Amino acid sequence: MPVTDPLSVAQALHRRRSIRAFTDRPVDPAVLKQIFATAQRAPSGGNLQPWQATIVTGERWQAVKDAVAARLALGRDGHEPEYDIYPKGLTEPWEARRFGVGEGLYAALGIPREDKAGRIAQFMDNYRGFGAPVMLFLHCSRIMGPPQWSDMGMWLQSVMLLLVEEGLASCPQECWAMYGATIRRTLGLDDGQILFTGLAIGYADADAAVNQWAVPRAGLDEVIDWQGF
Ligand SMILES: Cc1cc2nc3c(=O)[nH]c(=O)nc-3n(C[C@H](O)[C@H](O)[C@H](O)COP(=O)(O)O)c2cc1C
Repeated sequence: MPVTDPLSVAQALHRRRSIRAFTDRPVDPAVLKQIFATAQRAPSGGNLQPWQATIVTGERWQAVKDAVAARLALGRDGHEPEYDIYPKGLTEPWEARRFGVGEGLYAALGIPREDKAGRIAQFMDNYRGFGAPVMLFLHCSRIMGPPQWSDMGMWLQSVMLLLVEEGLASCPQECWAMYGATIRRTLGLDDGQILFTGLAIGYADADAAVNQWAVPRAGLDEVIDWQGF
């Protein structure tokens, strides 16, 4: 399928958001193949290209959801974290940003703090991939370290921007890493692989309240220290 809406890199960056409600419109695998071919241009230290991905739809995607649902039913006993999603004892300014994004999400949905069940239900929607028809699991060899994990991030962002260019939407979802062993088993990955994140892929439900909300960013003064200019 040709690119119908060519975007500048800056336009794609501004347009991309984490989308948390998808339509059931299927995704053309030929479009995905083209996107992955282009994303291979992502840089990596030593050109290792450490990223590996397993992409599922239909019955294979349902099998992952079913397997994880069985773990979810066990509550905390079902957790199999691949890594600490956030550092233990997160301090400022990062804790405030993390708290802020949760509060912003629930506010966009009109779920008040007292509505614990409503908040849990919204979180659990993660494990439906927010209704996305396609789920990509991004993993790499367990021998890889922080530099290679950053390479995976560059590949992931490349894929997300290319999806935007094709009119597709996505949501990265590290929540799947809470159930790494189950997902590896279901996908047929060996234990030498470590699961970084899921990426829900599909067409955005443009009307959904959850998709109307743009997450703010820190000002440049908080992140860039200009020296010698
Ligand atoms: C690696 C990664 C993992 C993420 N995991 C989740 C997740 O499990 N669930 C979720 O709702 N959002 C997840 N997000 C989305 C972030 O909350 C989001 O990127 C951030 O708040 C900025 O919002 P934006 O992507 O809409 O610009 C993840 C983002 C990244 C980059």
